[in-house]
Amino acid sequence: MDQETLERFLSDLPMGWVKYLETVGSTNNFASRWVKEGALDFSLVIANEQTAGKGRLGRKWVTLPDSALAFSLILKNPFPEQSVPNAFIPRITGLGALAVCTAIQKDYQLPVNIKWSNDLLIDGHKIGGILAEARWRGDELTAIILGIGINITSDSIPQGYSLNYPAGALEQYTGCSVDRLQLLVSVLREINHWRALLQENVFIDAWERNLAYKNEWVGVFQGNGHNDVPIYEGRILGLNPDGALRLGLWDGKEKSVYAGDIRIRPVDMLLK
Ligand code: ATP
Ligand code: BTN
Repeated sequence: MDQETLERFLSDLPMGWVKYLETVGSTNNFASRWVKEGALDFSLVIANEQTAGKGRLGRKWVTLPDSALAFSLILKNPFPEQSVPNAFIPRITGLGALAVCTAIQKDYQLPVNIKWSNDLLIDGHKIGGILAEARWRGDELTAIILGIGINITSDSIPQGYSLNYPAGALEQYTGCSVDRLQLLVSVLREINHWRALLQENVFIDAWERNLAYKNEWVGVFQGNGHNDVPIYEGRILGLNPDGALRLGLWDGKEKSVYAGDIRIRPVDMLLK
């Protein structure tokens, strides 16, 4: 990949600024500086390697050279309607996750799904993740940085590092090699498509259809510790309009869970 090839592949998309980097700390941090410099809507920064890739809540996201997709897209005024309730903001994480799902489903016919809120799974293995970061001027939402990481070759799977979930890579499931640029274009097309529907019910419906462990029992954990006592256990029912996860509890009550410092695990995994 290089700058010129990247620009050629993206020529039929409504790109803002576009930058290819051999190596960077974190594409989200690079994009954050771009926002301050006045980057246009749909500006993209992509790197072959990240040395300080980030997950949620300061966790580490490993991007090894030549083996993964790691990029950040700047969405300015991301919602079609000007004034938007804050409750809609978590939909941006859904936008990234849904776009990756639908791109991989269309291009490779693979059963990829979303472990709420931000992880992409194939066959119970985490092949990617989303990190959406909002930027504000006062109480006005000015931009969202949508960071997406996808493990492509098996070399992308971190070694010698304790992972909090079994990891996988797309090529372990495709049986053929994956062109990173082609996949990038497919994901950006899907983002462009779903973005226009962000405030519609069809968006939540599509996000919900692609949830992993739907109707299955999961444990909900707080924090990053390896404590084995879930704060709730419940069956995944679906999503609320604000992107919260709806759980059906043992006593028949319903509980809405917000992303925050929360992790979910299928009950099967807890029993192992
Ligand atoms: P969990 O994944 O436990 O449900 P989470 O989704 O909040 O929690 P994230 O912050 O989304 O966790 O993801 C960061 C975690 O992903 C890291 O702590 C690490 O365990 C794992 N990880 C880091 N790099 C990779 C990678 N390239 N592939 C798969 N997993 C990775
Ligand atoms: C997660 O699972 O916690 C989210 C991982 C998000 C990783 C992507 S890679 C591109 C962008 N830059 C980062 O530093 N993080 C995101």
